[in-house]
Amino acid sequence: MKILVTGAAGFIGYHTCLSLLKKKNTKIFGVDNINNYYDTKIKLDRIEILKKKKNFYFKKIDITNFKLLKNYLTKKKINYIIHLAAQAGVRHSLKKPRDYIDTNLIGFFNILEISKIINVKHLVFASTSSVYGLNENFPFKENRIADHPIQLYAATKKSNEVMAHSYSYLFKIPITGCRFFTVYGPWGRPDMALFKFTKNIIENKKIDVFNNGNHTRDFTYCDDVAKLLSKILLKIPKKNIRFDKKKPDPSTSLAPFDIINVSSGKQVKLTKFISEIEKNLKRKAKKNFLPLQIGDIPDTLSSKKKINSYFKNFKSTNYKVGINNFIKWYKSYYK
Ligand SMILES: NC(=O)c1ccc[n+]([C@@H]2O[C@H](COP(=O)([O-])OP(=O)(O)OC[C@H]3O[C@@H](n4cnc5c(N)ncnc54)[C@H](O)[C@@H]3O)[C@@H](O)[C@H]2O)c1
Repeated sequence: MKILVTGAAGFIGYHTCLSLLKKKNTKIFGVDNINNYYDTKIKLDRIEILKKKKNFYFKKIDITNFKLLKNYLTKKKINYIIHLAAQAGVRHSLKKPRDYIDTNLIGFFNILEISKIINVKHLVFASTSSVYGLNENFPFKENRIADHPIQLYAATKKSNEVMAHSYSYLFKIPITGCRFFTVYGPWGRPDMALFKFTKNIIENKKIDVFNNGNHTRDFTYCDDVAKLLSKILLKIPKKNIRFDKKKPDPSTSLAPFDIINVSSGKQVKLTKFISEIEKNLKRKAKKNFLPLQIGDIPDTLSSKKKINSYFKNFKSTNYKVGINNFIKWYKSYYK
C-alpha cells in the first residue's frame, strides 16, 4: 500500500502515521504546509520523529497547489489517501472565516480531483462532530440529519461530505467521511482545551471555562482515532443496493460512500474533565467562568453502534487514562 496522509505534521496526522507504519508492506507519504495556526515547533518535532521511521517520507506541500500535489501523488504511485489537512478550530472560524475557504474547500476539491485522476482505492477524510450543529437528538447517529451547522468550520466540513458524495457517485470513488469527536491526548493541539488548561494551571494562570463548565463532550483518545483510521482505510465502502431513494438514509448511498462517527461513545462534563487535570497536576485551577460562546455546541455524544458493528466492539480509552498520558507527555515535552 502507498498511503498519502495529508496534515501529517498535525496532531491526528502524526498519530495516524505512527499507527499506519505498523502495517506490513506499507509506505506512508506525509504532506503538510506546516502553517503557523499554532506553534510550528510542535509540528516540526512530530515530523522529525516520523522521519526516523522506515517507510515514512515527508514533503512540504500546500494542498491548495493542485499541480504540485498531483505531480507528487502520480510520481509516488499513491493508491490510498487519508486526508486530514484542514483549517481546524471552531472559535478561530468566528474570527477568521476566510482561512477555512482555501484549505477546506479548494484544498478538498483538489483532493477529490486527484483521487479521480489516480484512481484511488479508498479516500478517507476528516469531518467533525460539529456538523451535528443544532441537532440535540442524542446520541448522534450517522443516519440522522446533520444539516444545521452553526459556524463556518462545520459548514466547510459538511460541504466536504456532500462534495465527496457527488465524486463518489459520479466517478465510483470509494470514500469514507469520519466525523471526529473532540480528539485529545499526547502531542495535542495547543489551541484545544486540555492543552490550554494544563498550561495555565502549571503557570498559575486563570483558565477560561465557557458555558460555566456545563459543556459535555464525547472525548476521543488520539490512539483510538489512529487505530480506527487504519481499520477504516481497509473497510472500503460499497454501494448500498438497498438504498431507498424514497426514504434516503444520510449515512449510506447508491454511491460507494460512507459516513462514520469516530468517538468514544461516552459523555464527560467539562468540570469533571478539569477536576481530572487538577488531580494529575496536584494543583487547583483558578477558573474564569464565562457564558456559552456563539458557535459552540453545548453537548456532544455519539452512538458507537456503527463503529462497533464494523470492528467488533472497539474498546475506547477511558478519559482518565487519556488525561494522565497527556500530562505525562506535556511535562516531558516542556520540561
Ligand atoms: N482534533 C479534533 O478534536 C478534531 C475534531 C474534529 C475534526 N478534526 C479534523 O481532523 C483533522 C486533523 O485535525 P488536527 O486536530 O490534527 O489538526 P491540526 O491543525 O493539528 O492538523 C492539521 C494539519 O493540516 C496542515 N494544513 C493546514 N492547511 C494545509 C494546507 N493548505 N496544505 C497542507 N497542509 C495543511 C496543518 O499545518 C496541520 O499540521 C482536521 O481536518 C480537523 O478539522 C479534528
